[in-house]
Amino acid sequence: MLIFTQIAALQKHLKPYIKQGKTIGFVPTMGALHRGHIFLIQKSIKEADLTVCSIFVNPTQFNDPADFDKYPSTVPADVEKLNKAKCDILFLPSVKEMYPDGTQNKRKVDFGFLAQTLEGEHRPGHFDGMAQVVERLLRIVKPHLLYMGLKDYQQQLIVGKLIAKRKLRVKLMALKTVRERDGLALSSRNVRLNVEQRKVAVQLSKALRRSKYYLKTGTEIASAQLSGRKKLEKNKEIEIEYFEIRNANTLAVPKSRKEKMVALVAAKVGGVRLIDNMRMW
Ligand code: PAJ
Repeated sequence: MLIFTQIAALQKHLKPYIKQGKTIGFVPTMGALHRGHIFLIQKSIKEADLTVCSIFVNPTQFNDPADFDKYPSTVPADVEKLNKAKCDILFLPSVKEMYPDGTQNKRKVDFGFLAQTLEGEHRPGHFDGMAQVVERLLRIVKPHLLYMGLKDYQQQLIVGKLIAKRKLRVKLMALKTVRERDGLALSSRNVRLNVEQRKVAVQLSKALRRSKYYLKTGTEIASAQLSGRKKLEKNKEIEIEYFEIRNANTLAVPKSRKEKMVALVAAKVGGVRLIDNMRMW
């Protein structure tokens, strides 16, 4: 695997491949790679001619400075994992390389309600920073295929809207959430959980599954939502930020059981903020 820290060198390397009509697959990450990230890499390797992964802990998407400071960094182990997965290229830029003129966001996209609700409500500014860096990365790498996880459900909806609004020529591939055996969604933040907290964290996916079960067996939306939420509330160690059943495309509160729906949760376990979601169909 080749590692580039400079945009110009990366683009010089990619140019002949683009000229030859090769397909470039791109997996943007913030590192601390786990099986969820590697799953995206493997899909890209299978479907594209060349796979580029980026590791960049983007300062502009952290609304909480402490969360940014505590974000795990494991670059040597990440490189090893990417090599093992046979990733072609790693783009590992510095903050200065990504934001030579400073981190202020001058060309914000208006995502409307999609970015105002749920994560948008609890992490003000987060999606503006995320969209800012994803757009920059897409303009640098110019991939044909962009691989993202459904684990960050609202994020991939917003990236879809970003691509449409900015008329970027890339196809978004949103892939399933990779989970631990007991159901916990893999996350870079899971390493911050101690043994006890790790045991409790599984309740997030269990609560989502409970809501899905109730919805599938004919329960009203509000009651299905409440039953999942109540399951979580039983655990004193869990601090719920939201537990909601929403329309799968707009994230609006659903009006009818006929809509495609997704349940989304954000909660803190021992101070570690975790998110998860589940399709209700
Ligand atoms: P990060 O949290 O590192 O995630 C990188 C990608 O991996 C995202 O598309 C995310 O949805 C996906 N991912 C994370 N956990 C997953 C899991 N358990 N199963 C499947 N996919 C999973 O998301 C970001 O970084 C950043 O916001 C980024 C898009 C890189 C912009 O900075």
